[in-house]
Amino acid sequence: IEVEEFDLVVFGASGDLAHRKLLPALYHRDADGQLPANARIICSARRDYTDDDYRNYAKAALKEHVKDLDDEHLSLFLDRLRYVKIDVASGEGFDDLKTILDERTDVVRAFYLAVGPDLFGTICENLGKAGAVNDHSRVVIEKPIGKDGASAKALNETVGSVFKEEQIFRIDHYLGKETVQNLMALRFANALFEPLWNAAHIDHVQITVAESLGVGGRAGYYDTAGALRDMIQNHLLQLLCLVAMEPPESMNADSVRDEKLKVLKALAPIDEHNVDKMTVRGQYRAGASAGGAVPGYLDELGNDESRTETFVALKAEIANWRWAGVPFYLRTGKRLAQRVSEIVVQFQPIPHSIFDAEAGAITANRLIIRLQPDEGVQMQIMIKDPGPGGMRLRQVPLDMSFADAFKVRNPDAYERLIMDVIRGNQTLFMRRDEVDAAWAWIDPIQSAWASSKNLPKGYTSGTWGPSASIALVERDGRTWTEDDGK
Ligand code: BG6
Repeated sequence: IEVEEFDLVVFGASGDLAHRKLLPALYHRDADGQLPANARIICSARRDYTDDDYRNYAKAALKEHVKDLDDEHLSLFLDRLRYVKIDVASGEGFDDLKTILDERTDVVRAFYLAVGPDLFGTICENLGKAGAVNDHSRVVIEKPIGKDGASAKALNETVGSVFKEEQIFRIDHYLGKETVQNLMALRFANALFEPLWNAAHIDHVQITVAESLGVGGRAGYYDTAGALRDMIQNHLLQLLCLVAMEPPESMNADSVRDEKLKVLKALAPIDEHNVDKMTVRGQYRAGASAGGAVPGYLDELGNDESRTETFVALKAEIANWRWAGVPFYLRTGKRLAQRVSEIVVQFQPIPHSIFDAEAGAITANRLIIRLQPDEGVQMQIMIKDPGPGGMRLRQVPLDMSFADAFKVRNPDAYERLIMDVIRGNQTLFMRRDEVDAAWAWIDPIQSAWASSKNLPKGYTSGTWGPSASIALVERDGRTWTEDDGK
């Protein structure tokens, strides 16, 4: 279904995000017939490009990142692209942009700020000064939204002085991932799970976002952030919210965001009193990844002093009626054993077994929602081992692999999210108070670490992180899923 007519302005159009994600996402939506005939994509950067220079640049990006590029679709897509040179810092070029935009004033006008966060404020102010913002305007910003509560507030205030909250789309690209949206379908479009979705039936939840790559060329930014700010504050907390929230009244943006906010506010504080018990920090050392030797974080950074964590495991507790006593174990890290993101909901063991010892152990049921790779949902249940050999029990997966079941291309998160911006649907975007609440929980952890004598624990690249992460869950008599032969 086509979206309404729009002009999309991309700032940072020669940068990494535009190259790897935005141009491919827009191409796919166009090739699928979703962009209206006159939709314009106005790209801007500091380089001295003509429209055609930029089209060549975009063509190269698409050739690199899109499989099965179709020549006809490609040339139609490239025709939509315009280029405006803008020097964000000096403000030069905003008037040219306004002239192009004012060729039509009654269509959606979206500004995508695919630039570093230090430029968000300046761009918004310049757009305001140039008179380029009207009632049909929207602005899209990417994380990091600040590096703590205070800087996030300052940033939100600057953006908010030019755009109203209904016009501000704060992207957390994890919310655009297919399986993440499926989590809502699973919970609220089935009668099976919701009655069991509470402390009486769920033992604990694990959320893992493991990456096999290191920080690569992003060491400069990464060293000022670390895994807690880069991943937990946004992606993992958002996943936690979707697992833990009460059923929203509807899929309406504020209903969903109100429920997520309540979860964030109910997170039990972690601060200098309990930080060593509840969290584990790690930093990767040299090791092996994808069959080759890789250097350690400090060598990549060229700085022996850094205490920045590239791994975090923590135990979050949600202090409310539904979840009291159910730990949510979160972990994320770079250079881990494999790239895998999943949510594991571990149910309680059965209250009593009627089977004798011959039947074997009975493993508690487990629901696994796999975000990547191999998106899917798996329910682990006990069955009788087939055959006449008596009652022997065995755990088997009820498996739903999306690739096998649907045989369609799995759209990238950005495809969905950019179209939601045009549609004006904020359900999958973070509201300002959510960002504030997430920082309010993260800030005390960060400052407890900063004043702690303990350093991040080294872990060998290609493993599952420091052994203290295993101890964090084993102390509670539990194990991370990959450790028990799943
Ligand atoms: C980004 C982080 O938000 O998410 C990166 O800044 C991380 O450090 C990336 O690598 C992971 O995203 P994905 O979609 O590849 O899992």
